[in-house]
Amino acid sequence: MLLVTGVSGGLGSLIAGRLAGRDDVVLGTRSPGDAGERRVDFDDPRTLAEAFTGVDTLLLISAGYGEDDEVIARHDAAITAAEKAGVGHVVYTSLSGDGDHLTYALAHRWTERRLRESSLSRTVLRNGLYAELLAFLAAPGPDGVVTAPLGTGRLAAVARDDLAEVAVRVALDPARHAGRTYELVGEVPLGGTELAAVAGAAYVPGTLAGARTRIAGSGALPFQVPMLVGTYAVIAAGFMDGSRIPQGERGALRELLGRAPRDAAAVYRDALPR
Ligand SMILES: NC(=O)c1ccc[n+]([C@@H]2O[C@H](COP(=O)([O-])OP(=O)(O)OC[C@H]3O[C@@H](n4cnc5c(N)ncnc54)[C@H](OP(=O)(O)O)[C@@H]3O)[C@@H](O)[C@H]2O)c1
Repeated sequence: MLLVTGVSGGLGSLIAGRLAGRDDVVLGTRSPGDAGERRVDFDDPRTLAEAFTGVDTLLLISAGYGEDDEVIARHDAAITAAEKAGVGHVVYTSLSGDGDHLTYALAHRWTERRLRESSLSRTVLRNGLYAELLAFLAAPGPDGVVTAPLGTGRLAAVARDDLAEVAVRVALDPARHAGRTYELVGEVPLGGTELAAVAGAAYVPGTLAGARTRIAGSGALPFQVPMLVGTYAVIAAGFMDGSRIPQGERGALRELLGRAPRDAAAVYRDALPR
């Protein structure tokens, strides 16, 4: 049996949709409804012993919003419970290798190490940043200008649904992917110029200082300010255009999909607020 965690989230709900109707799959969420989901709350490890009973494969969707100690404790609780419950294989949604300078990389790398040191068979899906995230980070303002502080940096963004499709394929055939780490980044990097063009806008990049002031004044939680400013900074510094992923690992997304990845620019455009 396959258990998927976090199924009410953006990625988890796409995965759950693709697995609908299968009787060898159970869905896990902090807030189960009446559709037979199991309660899975990494902050309440008692829920995990029960939820992981009879589970052969765990698709562990990272629970990445929080300070590092909170996220690490969540993932540790999930992996510890998987070990205790006799889960055979864990598929973990991590962060692409070119994202090491992002503040949220730490908890992902900690979790990868925790899995390596566990007795569990595992597959690590190193997800690139979503094209949908760019619609949040770099939407044109009401004046039709994209001011995101991306400089000349570009992001090898990926459609979230492509990542959902890969996660499903891997989780349904775990033995084939045991011990593998896949770098899942887009093939056509997007920067401010490309984003503005597809949105019918102009690109006039702002500064990181300006973004920090705006985000801090927007009601963001304290940890979110460096998280978001750092995301702009790392893209602007040219670390996330895909070229830092070793050549031989760049084709993993296309290979696992068995087709070309979705057009990230179109996904960005369609995800823009209306
Ligand atoms: N690659 C990217 O661009 C990108 C962008 C944002 C986030 N991420 C990372 O990828 C993950 C999945 O992305 P997403 O788009 O699905 O994010 P999302 O829409 O924010 O969903 C995250 C889900 O994580 C689950 N979760 C949170 N706290 C949990 C806890 N204590 N115990 C169990 N589950 C918990 C929740 O599922 P339930 O409500 O069903 O319990 C939540 O809905 C995120 O959590 C984050 O780590 C990646």
